[in-house]
Amino acid sequence: MKYLLDTANLEDIRRYYEIFPIAGVTSNPSIVKKEGKIDFFAHMNEIRSIIGTDKSLHIQVTALDTAGMLKDADRILTKVDKDVYIKIPVNMEGIKAIKELKSQGVNVTATAIYSKMQGLLAMEAGADYIAPYYNRMENMGLDPEDIIASFAEMIALYDYKTTILAASFKNAGQVNKAHLAGAQTATLDPSILVAALKQPYIEKAVADFDADWKSIYGDCTIAEL
Ligand code: E4P
Repeated sequence: MKYLLDTANLEDIRRYYEIFPIAGVTSNPSIVKKEGKIDFFAHMNEIRSIIGTDKSLHIQVTALDTAGMLKDADRILTKVDKDVYIKIPVNMEGIKAIKELKSQGVNVTATAIYSKMQGLLAMEAGADYIAPYYNRMENMGLDPEDIIASFAEMIALYDYKTTILAASFKNAGQVNKAHLAGAQTATLDPSILVAALKQPYIEKAVADFDADWKSIYGDCTIAEL
């Protein structure tokens, strides 16, 4: 399983990239909005310099029509770098843009996926990643596990090169279920990773071990023995 950070916050990316085994960074215009009116390309380049070129950086287009999406993609690839995964929402305009970008050999992440058909079409169009929106599906009464499992089944059955990048999470349980359903990767707000490891019962276990050790050896650590 791979974990990506779904944020454009530089401080968080710096801090959590050092701590967690992170495979990349994703954002979308709503996530970018949280950072205010940033110098967009300088900011994206800073994210790249933090994570390096061996991790994946996914940047979403903002144009609403195919021609505009292709222009956005071109600008992103020029102003950031050629390895960026261009995130494109899977609608009528987006699927056409995905087909075109893949014919040019550009890395593509198909996003805003709520249905099997959207994901399957994006796979067939050659998307490198498909991003099903887990929490948003749940909010709509859809079954994200079933949809993700179908994607995983089709990828295995027909040997698609597409990877499932599950997105839109609100808690660790959703992330675990997405992985078990067959998503190889998940992008999530760092707060979900932090919450997974900062729990009172974990702190208590660590405190108990510490107290037991110190009751015998005092402040002397194993390294100091
Ligand atoms: C990925 O980048 C998606 O755009 C994102 O996870 C959507 O999350 P949300 O449903 O919390 O807006």
